[in-house]
Amino acid sequence: TKKIWLDVDTGVDDALGLLLACGSPAFDIKAVSVTHGNVSLDQAAANTLQVLDIVERPDIPVYKGASRPLVRAPLYEHAVHGKDGISGMSEERYLAQKPDAGYAPERLIEMLHAYPHELTLIFTGPLTNLALALQRDPAAAGLINEVIFMGGVVHGPGNITPAAEFNTYVDPEAVKVVLHSGISRLTQVGLDVTKQVLLTEDRLQAFKHSYPFWGDWIERVTTQYRERYFTVNGVRACALHDPLAVAAALTPELLQTVPYYTDIECRSSISDGSLVVDEKNRLQKSPNAYIALGVDLPLFFSLFERAVARLPER
Ligand code: BDR
Ligand code: CA
Repeated sequence: TKKIWLDVDTGVDDALGLLLACGSPAFDIKAVSVTHGNVSLDQAAANTLQVLDIVERPDIPVYKGASRPLVRAPLYEHAVHGKDGISGMSEERYLAQKPDAGYAPERLIEMLHAYPHELTLIFTGPLTNLALALQRDPAAAGLINEVIFMGGVVHGPGNITPAAEFNTYVDPEAVKVVLHSGISRLTQVGLDVTKQVLLTEDRLQAFKHSYPFWGDWIERVTTQYRERYFTVNGVRACALHDPLAVAAALTPELLQTVPYYTDIECRSSISDGSLVVDEKNRLQKSPNAYIALGVDLPLFFSLFERAVARLPER
């Protein structure tokens, strides 16, 4: 099994990423940490606890981390994920439930020292918690086995500004810290690749047919998210951004990646938060990230289906 640390800003697709992770016996999930992002830190924590409860994994520690980006003001994505982040499905009692004690960046540092070179870290929200950990303990970068993050867009338009993807736009300074921290294996899974992973209406209906309980849950949790996708794209579907980053940790051959030197724009009025990937090696610098350029869609959907089939039903 792979030792996993998952960091989320539970929103709709983060919730589906959690399902995939929890239904994958190859993962030994050591902890889930929560960040601001799609919704506030507190709401994201409540949503995370709710998902872990429904998949019957209350044993997984949940740590709260940053409530805001390193230097900027928080920015939430209610238009896409709903006011509560999970299409109105959030239940009040989880807001009252206390996550585990401890601050996520500190817990992460402790965990890296406890399992040197063994932890795979997956990030499906802004990178604030990882940046905070690396600022406190720069040497911790050398203890990480691998980082996979959903964020940025390499070829094509952004989804929050013309140039930038949401997760990198929200906290570009954190992305900069991570990119230049010396992590030996850092994999970027960007919007241009994740937007190919579409839960279409047909797929959803087939899912509901084979797995009524989870198919129905997925249909409900994605309601607002699919509405928004239809409004923006005119197609009845939604993109499984975050589940792809989770699946990439499970099965690396899922993604085609190429190592490139990569940086991020932090001081631009028009392209703030956009990744700059030196595909032609103009800067003559060593690669610092594996950039995802393609995905094996049938493989993704078979992994996703197998994971959901293993989840308990209530
Ligand atoms: C990313 O932004 C968030 O809204 C989603 O949860 C995903 O992590 C896609 O750009
Ligand atoms: Ca997310």
